[in-house]
Parts: sequence; structure tokens; C-alpha cells
Amino acid sequence: MIRAIRGMRDLLPPETERWQQVELAARELFRRYGYQELRLPLLERTELFARSIGAETDIVAKEMYTFTDRHGDSVTLRPEATAQVVRAFLEHGLAKAPGVKKYFLIGPMFRYERPQKGRYRQFHQINCEALGSDAPELDAEVILLLLDILREVGLGQVKLLLNSLGCPGCQVDFKAELKLFLFDREGWCPDCERRRAVNALRVFDCKSAHCQGLLQGAPALVDFLCPDCARHYARIKELLGRFQVDFEEQPRLVRGLDYYTRTTFEVTAAGLGAQDAVAGGGRYNGLIRELGGPDLPGIGFAIGQERLMEVLPPTAAGARRELLFLAYVGEAARDRALALLYELRQQGLAALMDFDHRSLKSQMSLADRLQAAAAVILGESELEEGVAQVKWLADSRQERLPLAELAGSLAARLRAPA
Ligand code: HAM
Repeated sequence: MIRAIRGMRDLLPPETERWQQVELAARELFRRYGYQELRLPLLERTELFARSIGAETDIVAKEMYTFTDRHGDSVTLRPEATAQVVRAFLEHGLAKAPGVKKYFLIGPMFRYERPQKGRYRQFHQINCEALGSDAPELDAEVILLLLDILREVGLGQVKLLLNSLGCPGCQVDFKAELKLFLFDREGWCPDCERRRAVNALRVFDCKSAHCQGLLQGAPALVDFLCPDCARHYARIKELLGRFQVDFEEQPRLVRGLDYYTRTTFEVTAAGLGAQDAVAGGGRYNGLIRELGGPDLPGIGFAIGQERLMEVLPPTAAGARRELLFLAYVGEAARDRALALLYELRQQGLAALMDFDHRSLKSQMSLADRLQAAAAVILGESELEEGVAQVKWLADSRQERLPLAELAGSLAARLRAPA
């Protein structure tokens, strides 16, 4: 038997139905906040990610699915969506669109990480990007949207972590101070040894407990913010307070991607173990220019769908589906059921029947095993009288409904069960 690749999960029913519900809820909230959907390729030029996420990040240095295509070009399965949203934004001249440009993107991402609970090699993100404004009101709005989505899908207790990384100006002094701190201590892992020289901020990403221990007492970026960045950050905190959003300031929250400036945030949830970030995001005011575009700011977030599903409370188990099962006795009824099947579907109802000439008993048992809401039974006498027997499988209640109005009556009953 050929099995799926390690770290890549098959999503099967009924899980896929829950995924659909979550995506539907997210889409509805994106609509209310004025976001439009982008669907972009899974493959991009490797250079796009190397330039935007940063060569020293774990993602680019260790985790990308990169290969050479038949033409000899280096291509990569997207490890995240922000870089490609900006790529598409520039390629299609979307900067000309009026107002803040707001996009969402839902789909798979790929990172060659060590699989464990909440960490996969193919995973899915609900991604949000807003380009064209640096207003702190937009930061607050993006965070509110994220929390709205999480609340709407039923995620109860979450923790919002917040930080500001300042602008490149603030980072110059901070990085100098951080470097002094890092070179003052010895015993870093080989990765951090290299990082402290070339990209000091990335030392914070290290997963080794030893390096994290050495980082105790390291300088924090918030202490180096310039007056503009400090005002920006203060305003966001004020707005979040005004909307009664609880948050915790987390000076170590640098996030594992190089493009962030100013605001960074993460949402964590209990029950996920070590991989407890359900969503993460932040501002990337230099990224659009870095990728060859105008000097436009941007901000966004991504929700990890697998992690979200993991912490969502289970939906009521064993709930019957809104499915009708047509059962028949005899050839004439079989023919009529076939026509009825089509009529019901035309009316928007989900309906199935058996084509394999089973006995009525095994058709009824099939209806039950399929978790149908009702079995619609047609036999000779029903055909003569122009009715169908409808058996509601949850409580075995039976009723006779005129065939002519069957679709309408069933639709009404399914929508408002008695
Ligand atoms: P990220 O923090 O790398 O940010 O990923 C966002 C979320 O994706 C994480 O919080 C987590 O829930 C999920 N995730 C990441 N890696 C895995 C994995 N291996 N398995 C399962 N879930 C995972 C970004 O990707 C940024 N592009 C977010 C962003 C958008 N920033 C601005 N705009």
C-alpha cells in the first residue's frame, strides 16, 4: 500500500465539513471588513521567498520545498502567502485600486519541519493582507477581524500577544545593543553563533532551551522605539483597550520572518502543547518596496487551520445530516423514485437512493447508516394514491405527504424540524 507522505494529512469527512464551516465563517467576516479573495499558485520562484522572508530565517534556511524545474529554474512550494500576495499585487498593478487594498487567501502552505502535534509539512492558512495604509487604526482593525473570526467559529479562550519591532531606524540602535549582548555570552548553538553575526534578531527564533536561557535579560525592541513608532504602538494599544480586547505585551515576539516592522502579534490557545500559536501576523512596511514596488505599507495575519481545528470544541456528535434517502419497492416505484431524486435535488435538497435493487430492509438500514434525516418510501400503493411515506429516522415518526408537493414540504420540515 502506498501511504501519504510524512507530515501531509488527508482530510476526510466529517472533518472536511467542519473545515467548510470554518472557511464559510471566515469568508463572511472578510466580506464585512471589505476583503476580496485571491487564489494564487502554489509554486513561486525561490528568489521571491529568499528575498522577502530572509535568508537567515528557519523557513528559508531549512524548511522550504525547493527544486529545479525541467527548465532549470529554482522553484519553491509556498511556505507562506504574504510574499506572493505582494508579488501578485505588484505584477497586476493592484496598487492603483482605490483605498486600502484588502485581500484574503485560503490554501495550503509547505514547510519541511519535523512533524508533531499541530505541525505539519503541508498545512493550511487563512491569510489576510491589507496594503496601502500605515494607520494604527488599520492595525487594530486587522486584529479585531482576526479575533472576530476566531470567536465566530467557536474558539473560546485565546491569548493575544503583542509587540512592536519599530522601523528600520529604531532597529539600528537595537541591533547594535543586541549584538553586544550576544557577543558578551558564549555557548550559543552553531545556528545562533552565525546569526548573532549576520542577523541578530533571528537568535530569538532559536528553539533550543539553552539559547533561550542565554537570552535572559536581552534588550527589548520596545525600549528602542523612535517617537513615531512609540506613538503608533501606543495608539494601537489604546484602540484595543477601547474595544475591550485583552492583550499581553510580549517584548520577545519578533516572529520568524524578516519582513516585519512595527506591530507584531500572535494568538495562542491552550490545548496545543508546544505549537500553541493559532495565528500570527504583523506589519511589513518595507516589503512592497523590497520586492520592487512603491513605498507602500502593509499588515496582515495568517490563521493555521489545522491548529484551529485542533482546539475547536467538537460539534455535537452523531447529528443527522440534512440528507433524504429514497427507498422503493418494485420497478414502477424505482422509476418514480429516480425522477423524484432529480426533482428533490433541483429544489436544493440533498438526496440519495440505492441503484442496486436491494431489499426495502437493507435500503432502510443503509439510510440509517448514512445518517439520513428521513427515508422517503415509495411502493405500489403510494404510487396509486400519489403520496410518499416519510420516516424521520431520528425518532421514527412517519407521515404521508402528497408526491406533488413533496420537495416543498420536505424542505420546510428540514429547515424547521418539528
Ligand atoms: P507564521 O507565523 O509563519 O506567519 O504562520 C502563521 C500560522 O500558521 C501559525 O501561527 C500557525 O498556526 C500556522 N503554521 C505555521 N507553520 C505551521 C506548520 N508547520 N504546521 C501547522 N501550522 C503551521 C506567516 O505565515 C505570515 N505569512 C503571516 C502574515 C500574514 N503576516 C503578515 N501577513
